[in-house]
Amino acid sequence: MTHILNKQVSQKKILITGGAGFIGSHVVRKFVTTYPAYKIYNLDALTYAGNLENLRDIENQDNYTFIKGDITDDTFIMNLFETEKFTDVIHLAAESHVDRSIADPLAFAKTNILGTMVLLQAFKKLWQDDWKNKRFYHVSTDEVYGTLGESGLFTETTAYDPNSPYAASKASSDHFVRAYGETYGLPYVISNCSNNYGPNQFPEKLIPLFINNIIEKKPLPVYGDGNYTRDWLYVLDHAIAIDKVFHTGVNTETYNIGGFNEWKNIDLVKVLCDQMDEKLSRTKGESQKLITYVKDRPGHDLRYAIDANKIKNKLSWEPSVTFEEGLSQTIDWYLNNSIWLKHVTSGAYKTYYDKQYNK
Ligand code: NAD
Ligand code: DAU
Repeated sequence: MTHILNKQVSQKKILITGGAGFIGSHVVRKFVTTYPAYKIYNLDALTYAGNLENLRDIENQDNYTFIKGDITDDTFIMNLFETEKFTDVIHLAAESHVDRSIADPLAFAKTNILGTMVLLQAFKKLWQDDWKNKRFYHVSTDEVYGTLGESGLFTETTAYDPNSPYAASKASSDHFVRAYGETYGLPYVISNCSNNYGPNQFPEKLIPLFINNIIEKKPLPVYGDGNYTRDWLYVLDHAIAIDKVFHTGVNTETYNIGGFNEWKNIDLVKVLCDQMDEKLSRTKGESQKLITYVKDRPGHDLRYAIDANKIKNKLSWEPSVTFEEGLSQTIDWYLNNSIWLKHVTSGAYKTYYDKQYNK
């Protein structure tokens, strides 16, 4: 029995999509280093958000292969699956930033909906007569549930009610994954996670954008009145949760992942400013003076908060890092990786920034 199990484990060929991005790079590292018997393939188109510098430390590992490619390119994807015969997919590749989805919704429909369908088709074509020991894991977001009022939590049974083009595209991709399960017997799991933060996050999202602006003493653009609420999770804890769901989650089920950690944007920004003042040896209060209230995001969701009790009780997962520790480690990472930050904020980033904030 043990022998058979080991044989199955050693035959695992896992395709991780979007592995050069923020969360994907932490998931790739976790799987490559924890499971030397698995073969891990990282498929990424290297858009503005994909960065192989995120994976320098593991790129020469024997069980790791990088493949540059676009998930919407169906001929390429079909051939790749036919050749490599991946036993499992962990799908993270996506357009992921809400503000960009407001500016260019079609790009989100293409990658997030069509790209997911191309992967589903390729996986189905390969394994539909032999689903045993195969798994398609779709990594999704809590934004599919829409917005909460001042109270309540998103559970796995909350109705989908997406508000931004990004959220609508992720909701649609979740529906297609479910539909492949119902219609073709696809063995799938889905997780819907709250806001991540941590090392390697592209500085278009709130926390790394504000860290970079504080370093550069630039204005901190808080949307609307700043009273929007998000539930923050350290990215390494998300990677651990993905490992748990991948290995012990039940087929056709959904798992909500969150930090039990709600913050109003303005309160979070003030804590960030204070921690940065201390680390940069600036006078307390200096960075808070950079806070600037700007025009609100259209369709801005008021509040996200996850009930993560299902994954906690059924899969024994809970966040291991407190927000204070995680934020401190995140700031330290950006301060110690100024070259990474410089690389990703040169060139096209400046054009994006001007369009988004200096219009
Ligand atoms: P990211 O934008 O940092 O990375 C996305 C990666 O996907 C990049 O490496 C990019 O090059 C790649 N990619 C984009 N289009 C592609 C295509 N057509 N073909 C192949 N690769 C492509 O995103 P992230 O924040 O790491 O999010 C990863 C996943 O997790 C996404 O599916 C997102 O919806 C989900 N998620 C993110 C968060 C969060 O807070 N960041 C929270 C919950 C869920
Ligand atoms: O909830 C999960 C989602 O979290 C993920 O699915 C998305 O991929 C991820 O981008 C994130 O979405 P948000 O829109 O919540 O994250 P963002 O960092 O863009 O914004 C967080 C909050 O901060 C939100 O209320 C908007 C606000 N904000 C953001 C930016 C970039 C500002 O006030 N100013 C800003 O400049």
